[in-house]
Amino acid sequence: MADLSRMRRDYDRPGLREEDLAPSWVEQFDRWFRDVVAADVPDPNAVVVATADADGAPDARIVLLKGYDEAGFVFGTSYASTKGAQLAANPRAALVFPWHALQRQVRVTGRVERIGEAASDDLWDPRPREAQLAAVASVQSTVVDSREELEARVRLLDEETTTEKLPRPPVWGGYRVVPERVEFWQGGPGRLHDRLRFVRDDEEGGGWVLQRLAP
Ligand SMILES: Cc1cc2nc3c(=O)[nH]c(=O)nc-3n(C[C@H](O)[C@H](O)[C@H](O)COP(=O)(O)O)c2cc1C
Repeated sequence: MADLSRMRRDYDRPGLREEDLAPSWVEQFDRWFRDVVAADVPDPNAVVVATADADGAPDARIVLLKGYDEAGFVFGTSYASTKGAQLAANPRAALVFPWHALQRQVRVTGRVERIGEAASDDLWDPRPREAQLAAVASVQSTVVDSREELEARVRLLDEETTTEKLPRPPVWGGYRVVPERVEFWQGGPGRLHDRLRFVRDDEEGGGWVLQRLAP
């Protein structure tokens, strides 16, 4: 076994205290998202999306977050992909934003819904032509014979398409993860990390409660 036990990570950032937290998860996420963009790390909007199939078998992959607001977190993908099939059977997901450069992570769990057609168009339309060609030519998550086969499909589609942009295929669209829990994790000195979690409280008529978790 490769021995990684001597790889060390020192956490030295100021902690996250209740009095410094924004009043809502979305305002707190917004603060941290601005920080990670300002830190100039690659792909600040990359997020791990975990799903599970009907048998509960877990799966995870990275996507690029396309937007967030108090309603939730939106990303675009193929509804016909493996994740799409898993979400059709079990419309729940977990997200992890791994913001190592800031010694932070944000974890989200919640139910997942498709965003509407018009909102999916808004995600599709700004994609560059190559990205649209690739998304239409590649049936995401299916087994293919070769790289050449995929390239040939893209070439053919490129030749057949006379317009600059392609219409959004019905299988491509957005999902929204509607959060039930949003946890903000801040690494700190002495490994006594801060974990503050907003939990949706249906008894409170859609309000949120704040919990501190042991690290
Ligand atoms: C940095 C990065 C960004 C990605 N962004 C997306 C994305 O926005 N949408 C998407 O469908 N796949 C994206 N992918 C590819 C996915 O990780 C994955 O390969 C694909 O969605 C198929 O997943 P599935 O077979 O579990 O459905 C991205 C991968 C990486 C590494």
